[in-house]
Amino acid sequence: MTSARDIRPRQDDLAAQAQYLATSPSASFHSPSSHGSALTRTIPVLNAKHLKPFATQDIKVLLLENVNVAGREILQQQGYQVEFLKSSLPEDQLIEKIRDVHVIGIRSKTKLTERVLKEAKNLIVIGCFCIGTNQVDLQYAAEQGIAVFNSPFSNSRSVAELVIGEIIALARQLGDRSNEMHNGTWNKVSNKCWEIRGKTLGIIGYGHIGAQLSVLAEAMGMSVIFYDVLNLMSLGTARQVETLDQLMAEADFITCHVPELAETKGMIGKPQFEKMKTGSYLINASRGTVVDIPALIDAMRSGRVAGAALDVYPNEPAGNGDYFNNELNEWGNDLRSLKNLILTPHIGGSTEEAQSAIGVEVAQALTRYVNEGTTLGAVNLPEVTLRSLTMDEPNHARVIYIHKNIPGVLRKVNEVIGDHNVDKQMTDSRGDVAYLMADISNVSAAVIKDLYERLESLNSRIMTRILY
Ligand SMILES: NC(=O)c1ccc[n+]([C@@H]2O[C@H](COP(=O)([O-])OP(=O)(O)OC[C@H]3O[C@@H](n4cnc5c(N)ncnc54)[C@H](O)[C@@H]3O)[C@@H](O)[C@H]2O)c1
Repeated sequence: MTSARDIRPRQDDLAAQAQYLATSPSASFHSPSSHGSALTRTIPVLNAKHLKPFATQDIKVLLLENVNVAGREILQQQGYQVEFLKSSLPEDQLIEKIRDVHVIGIRSKTKLTERVLKEAKNLIVIGCFCIGTNQVDLQYAAEQGIAVFNSPFSNSRSVAELVIGEIIALARQLGDRSNEMHNGTWNKVSNKCWEIRGKTLGIIGYGHIGAQLSVLAEAMGMSVIFYDVLNLMSLGTARQVETLDQLMAEADFITCHVPELAETKGMIGKPQFEKMKTGSYLINASRGTVVDIPALIDAMRSGRVAGAALDVYPNEPAGNGDYFNNELNEWGNDLRSLKNLILTPHIGGSTEEAQSAIGVEVAQALTRYVNEGTTLGAVNLPEVTLRSLTMDEPNHARVIYIHKNIPGVLRKVNEVIGDHNVDKQMTDSRGDVAYLMADISNVSAAVIKDLYERLESLNSRIMTRILY
C-alpha cells in the first residue's frame, strides 16, 4: 500500500467555483426532491481535518466525453491522478480503463452497464456530468457500493431565462417578423403586439425553474400566479392559486415547469385550453408529454391561443439533423405551419454557464464523497452525512461501511467498532443497500487496519472505506 496523499479541497477554490452554481433561490425552503445541491446543505467547517483514504492508492480518475474544464480543475486540484479524454470509449476499451480507476466521470453517451461495472474492481463513485442517469445501471452500481452523482438542477436559470425571452418574443410576434424579413418581406405591424408589463404570468410547477422565473418576471413588471401540488412559499408578490383551472383562466402567459409523471401526462389538453383567455399564450419547456399537441394546434387555429413556444416534444431525435417531421411526430407538419409559434430543439438548459455549473456541482460531490464519504445528492445510495472532523480531533478515523440491508447487521458492525469511542454514527438504507458512517476517536494505524479487516470479513459487507 502506498501512502495516501492529502486530498482535501482548498476552501477558497471551492468558494470561487461555487458562485457559478445555478441553484434555485427557493431550494433552501422547498427542495422538492432529495437531489438539491449538496453545497446548499452542508456548512463548511473552517478547521476541518484533511481526511485520507486508508487502504487505497492515489485516487485515479477517468474523465470521458469532454467533461467541462471547471469540473476537471476541481478534481486535479485535489491531487488526484486525472486522465481526461474528449470522447466516450467503445465498450472493450472502457472495460480496460475502468479496471484501474476509483472515480469515473461521464456524460450521456458512455453506458455503464452491469457488464462494464463488473470489471470496475476499484471503482467507488461515478459522476454523471449531466442531468440524466439512465446511462448507468444504478441498481447494480448500488449493489457494488458504487455511488452515483449527477446535477439535476444546474441549468434551472438557463431555462428560466429562455422562457423570459420567449414571453417577449411571443408578445411581439418576433419569430414571424424575423422569418418574414429572412424571406425579404417588410411587415411593420403593431396590431396584437403587446408589452409584457402589467400582464399575468401563470407558472405551473413552482420548483427550481418556476421559482427562478417568478423572480425574473416580476422584475419585468409582470404579476405572477402559480399552481403546484405542494403548498409553497411564494417569492416576491407571486400568489399561489388553488387549482389549475384558476390559473388557466387568470393568466395571460402560461408556462409549464412540472416533471414528467403519470399525473402530468397530457396535463394541458382540450379542457385546459378551453379555460384559457382568448388571445393568451402557452410555453412548454418542461417535458414533451405535458402538453397535448393536437389540442394546442386546434386552440391556435381557433385563435384561443395567440402564440406558443415549445422546447420539448413527445418524440425527440437522438442527434442533430433533418428529423423534425411527421415521421417523428404525426402532427409535425401541422405544427410547423402555425403562426407565432416558436419551436426550439430542447435547448432550455443548453448554455455554457449550465455546463460549467454541472462541472462544478458534480466534481464537488465526487470530492466530498471520496474525501469525506458524504452521499448527499447520490441517486442510488441513501443520503448520509456527518459533520467534518476537525483539526482538534487528530486521532479520529471515519468508518464507512456499505452493506447489505439484512437483519442483525448493525449488531455485528457494533461488535467491531463498539470497543472504541464512537463519537458519532449515522446509518440509512435504500432498498437492499445500507450506508453507515461512524467517527471513532483515539485510533492508531494498527487499530484502523484491524477494524478494516474485521469489517471486510463480515458477510453483509459490500464495501468498507476508512478515512483518517
Ligand atoms: N427544456 C430543458 O432543457 C429543461 C432543462 C431542465 C429541466 N427541464 C424540465 O423542467 C421541468 C421542471 O424542472 P425543475 O428543475 O423546476 O423541477 P423541480 O422538481 O424543481 O420542480 C417541479 C415542480 O413541479 C411540481 N409538480 C409536480 N407535479 C405537479 C403537478 N401534477 N401539478 C403541479 N405541480 C406539480 C413539484 O411540486 C415541483 O414544485 C422538468 O420536467 C424538467 O425535466 C427542461
